[in-house]
Amino acid sequence: MSAARLETLAGEARQAALPALARLRRTVFAEWPYLYDGDAAQEKEYLETLLAGRDAAVIVAWDGAEPVGMATCQPMAEAHAPVQAAFRRRGLDPARFCYFGESVLLPSWRGQGIGVGFFERREAEARRLGLQAAAFCAVVRNANDPRRPRDYIPLDGFWRRRGYAPRPDLSCVFHWREHGDPAETPHALGFWMKDPL
Ligand SMILES: CC(C)(COP(=O)(O)OP(=O)(O)OC[C@H]1O[C@@H](n2cnc3c(N)ncnc32)[C@H](O)[C@@H]1OP(=O)(O)O)[C@@H](O)C(=O)NCCC(=O)NCCS
Repeated sequence: MSAARLETLAGEARQAALPALARLRRTVFAEWPYLYDGDAAQEKEYLETLLAGRDAAVIVAWDGAEPVGMATCQPMAEAHAPVQAAFRRRGLDPARFCYFGESVLLPSWRGQGIGVGFFERREAEARRLGLQAAAFCAVVRNANDPRRPRDYIPLDGFWRRRGYAPRPDLSCVFHWREHGDPAETPHALGFWMKDPL
């Protein structure tokens, strides 16, 4: 397998990445810990919020002409309303933050530095935009959840080594349907933050 090439897409070029981002999300987030059973219409609406605003960007990992992973970032002031609300509730100004919305990579491409590259490129975008801090959220699961694969390694250590710290006082709720469920259920997401960048 050759090395993947990373590219940062901004402006109009971002829109071309949407169908592949939707595919990657539905594949990667079907697994633990998200167990997401994506719905095409809902997916499109959500992805539009991730790329909303003039300054959102998508980092694409390419295997030749095939996207094998993607990550997104945008000024938090332009992000999904519940994210901004979570910060305001704690007296934090969303205008200082870059929000990292997604990070998905097909399993066979993991462990080669692509995830590190996603962070480096998104932080570079944040600095370029004059933002002082960065944050993202991740689903919070019970450590005793019987659906957790035995060999699952949480990403907490990976995130800490990138300089991010958990903020248990900051959370929001997203709704999605899990595989096998008849309807959407609420899921708590906890935030991680690097401040200053
Ligand atoms: C998060 C995710 C994108 C990370 O991807 P990844 O490419 O496997 O991560 P990396 O290979 O960059 O980093 C993993 C380790 O390999 C190391 N590494 C291996 N080869 C490397 C290289 N050539 N250059 C830099 N680092 C390298 C990294 O330093 C890191 O180790 P460390 O944390 O001890 O420093 C991937 O695990 C994923 O898609 N997970 C599922 C979706 C998810 O949960 N996303 C997050 C919530 S949105």
